[in-house]
Amino acid sequence: MWEDLEVTLEKVDAQHLKDKPSADNLGFGQHFTDHMFLMKWSKQDGWHDSKICPYHEFNLDPAAMVFHYGQAIFEGLKAYKGDDNQLYLFRPADNFERMNNSALRMCMPRIPVDKVLKSLKALIYLEKDWVPDVEGASLYIRPTMIAVDPFLGVRPSETYYFFIILSPVGAYYAEGCNPTKIYVSDEYVRAVKGGVGHVKTAGNYAASLYMSEIAKKEGYTQVLWLDACEHKYIEEVGTSNIFFKIGDQLVTPPLEGSILGGLTRNSVITLAESWGIDVVERKISIDEVIEANKDGSLKEIFGTGTAAVISPVGELFYKGESNIINNGETGELSARLFSELQAIQNGQQDDPHKWVVRVG
Ligand code: COI
Repeated sequence: MWEDLEVTLEKVDAQHLKDKPSADNLGFGQHFTDHMFLMKWSKQDGWHDSKICPYHEFNLDPAAMVFHYGQAIFEGLKAYKGDDNQLYLFRPADNFERMNNSALRMCMPRIPVDKVLKSLKALIYLEKDWVPDVEGASLYIRPTMIAVDPFLGVRPSETYYFFIILSPVGAYYAEGCNPTKIYVSDEYVRAVKGGVGHVKTAGNYAASLYMSEIAKKEGYTQVLWLDACEHKYIEEVGTSNIFFKIGDQLVTPPLEGSILGGLTRNSVITLAESWGIDVVERKISIDEVIEANKDGSLKEIFGTGTAAVISPVGELFYKGESNIINNGETGELSARLFSELQAIQNGQQDDPHKWVVRVG
């Protein structure tokens, strides 16, 4: 695994390895493994100084451009331990290709996908004891790129760090796989077409916090965003894309520039179509959804994302009214998608779409 990898390896001394948390109560994003991957980029040298090294803090100049102008992009993917004790990644090259699309929009350098993928596999192999083998738990992988020029003029940075950190995680939402309660925002918006809503950049998440905190205080798990022009058409949930089963159709908003093209979204479309379900990517208004819920044609709603996996929606709060979806229960399709995806990701099931990559 290490032979053709032009990456330096600096290991943590055995006596300084961290204690691993119990796999039963991991939460999300709270624990970090012993090692990380780091490489640096400059205009003169391109990517250089690639290393797998002890997890450590950065010493950054207070003028580093990421702090001021937000050139920061990231990805989220997971490693799973299968029943056969092998480690599996789900569509990792697609994540790194998506990161390169984000990099283009944010005037940041492309990453070399093959090399980064090889380095990731080596890092995970080194940290294999951190991959939880409890059902529903996995090793969350966070590749990130930040601008580090110490400079206050507004222009793209000429130096960057790219790093990958690993975090053993359980369910993203406190509800686990149970239905979430969602607050529909008709005042604040997340992104606008022509902007960076389709890019996995830090600012999109910062922009979502104000409304998310209001929703949380009201007892809601997440915010469902509407389009920025008419506050009418459904976009996404910020941490996930969203699907509506109306009659026999599965409807999801189209990728038109203001929402993230989720890989779980794409996988769900592929799986559902392979089961003969009519999947339609089209604009869908919040009024249509509320109406369909009232007339009984709305069967279920669920979110899709790496962290959120498949998260059923049990309630939509919109304009002061609570709308209970599918009696507040997990729908049949949500449950089927969840178990099928999980089985593919864990290597327990055939993988006709070649999504799964074995580590080691
Ligand atoms: C993911 O699903 O991986 C995400 O990046 C969403 C969120 C945790 C920021």
